Amino acid sequence: ADRRDLVGRRIVVTAGGTREPLDPVRFLGNRSSGKQGVAIADAARARGAEVVLIAANLEVADPAGCDIRRVSTALELQAAVTAAAAGVDAVVMAAAVADYRPASVSESKIKKDASDSGLTLELVRNPDILAELGRAPHDGTILVGFAAETEPDDDARLALGRAKRAAKGADLLVLNRVGWTEGFANDENAVTIIGRDDTVVTEVHGAKLSVADAILDVVGSLLTE
Ligand code: PMT
Repeated sequence: ADRRDLVGRRIVVTAGGTREPLDPVRFLGNRSSGKQGVAIADAARARGAEVVLIAANLEVADPAGCDIRRVSTALELQAAVTAAAAGVDAVVMAAAVADYRPASVSESKIKKDASDSGLTLELVRNPDILAELGRAPHDGTILVGFAAETEPDDDARLALGRAKRAAKGADLLVLNRVGWTEGFANDENAVTIIGRDDTVVTEVHGAKLSVADAILDVVGSLLTE
């Protein structure tokens, strides 16, 4: 979009995938490359916004002109979002955040034992960062959540997206079909944007930058409402 409709707006974007350490050499992670979140930061910047990008283990180059705060774990991402989100116009949660982390982190490399046949990991819940933002007073800040869903049936997937929007208190939910070959790491994406009244605002399929602009079109219209 060749527009400067977000001049004077402050937007926080999270991108990438969190990593939860098990020991000094291993982590539990996910396949988010950060492309979609970085595309949103890039597009918002191009449209004139002041952008804070909270970057979790990006596999792509940093976008120019953004205030970048690097994090790795879900707890670090939570602290960075909390520090950045107060009073901004919008928070866009494109990062893939681990729902669980290892209950304890070993100080030394976990060794296998000659006699063991397997290893059981104990995990504990991470905070739900978006849901916390949704529950706290956030006067005028538009909260945009994502939902990465593998459900192949369109209607069933839409129902999951609607339920997630409501559960997390987001103003908009970007429903993202994901799978072994879809969503994560690709240059293209296919999403359905769900609004506050559970309506399908729009469906977009194309380059992650086009998806980013479509999301910002909806955010921009909510901000000028
Ligand atoms: O990075 P790419 O390779 O370009 O891939 C893009 C993407 C597929 C990762 C992205 O488009 C996407 O869908 N991101 C959200 C992934 C995710 O964590 O979805 P979820 O359905 O598990 O979480 C729902 C929402 O809650 C998300 O906005 C997430 O940021 C947030 N969340 C989740 C867990 C948690 N503990 N705290 C959160 O805030």
